[in-house]
Amino acid sequence: MVFQVTLSKSGNQFNVEESETVLDAALRTGYVIPYSCRIGSCGSCKARIVSGSIDYGEYEGNILTEVERAQGIALLCQAHPLEDLVVDAREVAVSEEIEIKMLPCRVVRLEQLNHDVMGLSLKLPQNQQFNYLAGQYIDILLRDGRRRSFSIANAPKEGGELELHVRRVPDGFFTNQIFNTMKERDLLRFQGPLGTFFLRQDSDRPILLMAGGTGFAPIKAIVEQAIEKDITRPMHLFWGARTEHDLYLDEMARYWAVQHEHINYTPVLSEVEPENGWSGETGWVHDVLLAHYPSLEQHEVYMSGPPPMIDAAHAAFLEHGLPDEHLYYDSFEFSADVPA
Ligand SMILES: Cc1cc2nc3c(=O)[nH]c(=O)nc-3n(C[C@H](O)[C@H](O)[C@H](O)COP(=O)(O)OP(=O)(O)OC[C@H]3O[C@@H](n4cnc5c(N)ncnc54)[C@H](O)[C@@H]3O)c2cc1C
Ligand code: FES
Repeated sequence: MVFQVTLSKSGNQFNVEESETVLDAALRTGYVIPYSCRIGSCGSCKARIVSGSIDYGEYEGNILTEVERAQGIALLCQAHPLEDLVVDAREVAVSEEIEIKMLPCRVVRLEQLNHDVMGLSLKLPQNQQFNYLAGQYIDILLRDGRRRSFSIANAPKEGGELELHVRRVPDGFFTNQIFNTMKERDLLRFQGPLGTFFLRQDSDRPILLMAGGTGFAPIKAIVEQAIEKDITRPMHLFWGARTEHDLYLDEMARYWAVQHEHINYTPVLSEVEPENGWSGETGWVHDVLLAHYPSLEQHEVYMSGPPPMIDAAHAAFLEHGLPDEHLYYDSFEFSADVPA
C-alpha cells in the first residue's frame, strides 16, 4: 500500500511506499526534515501526527515518552503510515542540490591523531560528483550489510577528499579494523551525505558550538566553511574532553581564535590531575558553556558528540531559554546493526 503524507505547514505532499518510513520517503522525494541517527535513538526527527495513524516502529525506550505519544508525537525515522497522514514537521531549507548517493571510495591516508583517534582520508572516484554541507555525515557500508556513521570533518573542497575522525571503541567491530588492519589504498563503500547538522546561513544569531571528543569533527567542518565563506557572526567553540590528549586538534582551534576576532575557543577537561598543570576550564562542557552564557534566548547552538552529553545539554539549554528550533545536534549513537 502507498500512503500520502501532507506536511501541514507548507502543504507539501509525498507518497510513502510499502515498508518505507516517513523520513525515508521525505528524503527520497527531496523534502528535508530534521534528522540525525535514523535508528530511533536521538529524537531529532520528532514531529506531530495531526491526522492519520502510524505504526510507531522500534525505538529506544526513553526517547519517546508515553505522554508524547498521547500528544501525537512520533519519530519520523521509525514511523510507517497505516493510512494517509497530515504531519506537523519542520522543513529544513537546503540551498544547494544535495543528493544522497551510494559511492565507492579509496583510503588515501591514515593518520593517528592521538592514542584513540584515527584521521582517515577518503578519495572519491574522479568521475563522481559528491555535494555535501559542512557538518553532514556518511554511513560506511560494511561487507555484511551493516553500516557505521561518521561525520565528515572537512568543508567541501576541490578534489573531493573526505576526512573522518574515528574514535576507537573498545571491542568495536569496525573502529578496531581501522586501527588494526586497514591500509592505504583499501576500498570502502559509503552512503551519504546524511543528516541536517549544518550551519544555518539564513540566520544572524550568534553561534555557540559544542563538541565532545570526536564530536569536534563536524564542528571543524562547519568552522572551516564559515571561515571560507567569510561568515563573521560571533562564534564560540567549547570542546569537552577527558584529558588534554583527547583534544586531538587543540592547536587548530586555538589558531582559529587567534586569527579571527569573531571566533572564541574554550577547551574544557573533565579529568584533571593536579600535577598536570592545566589552568583552563574544568567540569562538564555544557555546564561551562552555560556559565559563560546563562541566557541562550538569542543564540543558536550546534552540538555533537556522545549521547549522554547531548541528552544532558539538550535539557539544560532549553531550560536556559534556547528556543528548540535553534538547537542543532548530532548525537554519536552507535549502530543498531540493521543491514543497509
Ligand atoms: C550521526 C553520527 C555521526 C557519528 N560521527 C562519528 C565521528 O565523526 N567519529 C566517531 O568516532 N564516531 C562517530 N559516530 C559514532 C560511531 O558511528 C560509532 O562509534 C561506531 O559506529 C562504532 O562502530 P564499531 O563497529 O567500532 O562498534 P560496534 O561493534 O558497533 O560496538 C561495539 C560495542 O561498543 C559500544 N559502542 C559502540 N559505539 C559506541 C560509542 N560511540 N560510544 C560508546 N559505546 C559505543 C556498543 O555498546 C557496542 O556493544 C557517529 C555516530 C552517528 C550516529
Ligand atoms: S530518532 Fe529519528 S533520527 Fe534519531
